[in-house]
Amino acid sequence: MKPKVAVSLGVEADNPGLFEEKLSDIADVFPSSLRIGEISEDVKKSEAIILGLEQVNDSFLNEFPNLKIIARYGVGYDNVDVEACTRKGIYVTHTPNILSHAVAELTVGLMLCLSRKLVQADKYVRTEWAKTKKNIKLPKGIDLYGKVLGIIGFGRIGYQVAVRAKSFGMKMMYYDVERKMDAEKTLGIQYVNLETLLREADFVSLHVPLTPKTRGLIGERELKLMKPTAYLINTSRGPVVDEKALVRALREKWIAGAGLDVFAKEPLPLDSPLIDLENVILTPHMGTYTDETRRAMALMCIENVRAALKGETPPNLVPEQKEKKI
Ligand code: GLV
Repeated sequence: MKPKVAVSLGVEADNPGLFEEKLSDIADVFPSSLRIGEISEDVKKSEAIILGLEQVNDSFLNEFPNLKIIARYGVGYDNVDVEACTRKGIYVTHTPNILSHAVAELTVGLMLCLSRKLVQADKYVRTEWAKTKKNIKLPKGIDLYGKVLGIIGFGRIGYQVAVRAKSFGMKMMYYDVERKMDAEKTLGIQYVNLETLLREADFVSLHVPLTPKTRGLIGERELKLMKPTAYLINTSRGPVVDEKALVRALREKWIAGAGLDVFAKEPLPLDSPLIDLENVILTPHMGTYTDETRRAMALMCIENVRAALKGETPPNLVPEQKEKKI
């Protein structure tokens, strides 16, 4: 009997048939719901899980007595209780590096949408432009050239955002728990404390993982430190920002606007106050949602699962498990 591999339904939908194609020589692949209460008895026998954004905690793990690995389809793994997995000898892997370009591109896309009002401009052409004479009746945008970009969390993704911002002629600063001297030299990016970054940046972009330390990192105090002309971009995790405070900041114009790909609750409820605000651009947690990147993420999960099923250490363990051999 081959070992079973459960694939989260959303992950399978992104890559139809790929997990079966690449794993069927060594495993039986089951695309299935991984929500507690919806997991079938057969799926509970799985030795590997390819996981989307479902929550993994002790009670989830208790449903899977044979589990060897949770391969998270994504770089963030705040939905996985790594300590509980480590205690039970279950590997946790993720998909770093390969997705950094896609997330950085979306971040820059959100910046451009905000600076050049692209969403409003599209709507204007469809509904208004032909009714005017020659002049454009839209508020003017602003240049990114010469503006200050403040990057909070200067890891792999933050770095790729800086590479792109440099080519736009932006001035760049970053805040991180660690200084990155090499990048400071090669990109000409300046290390500052959080308060300086918030006070000086025209665009503040968040690239931290969600941890107990970063939850609520940007709240009322931080939003009030930002310039009234500044924009906040969040392509990291919703709970890094206090969403209620952000709604007030956007309504009361403490800041000029925001580009948000992630939210406190996902999918964003239609009655969220964010939906009615004009100075915000909303995207559906799609930082990595491109053909190339989603396939690369799937292949990385497959490589990790194959290793674990062969009794080898998977190549992309999360940092906590790299440090502490399991
Ligand atoms: C996406 O949210 C990821 O964690 O890669």
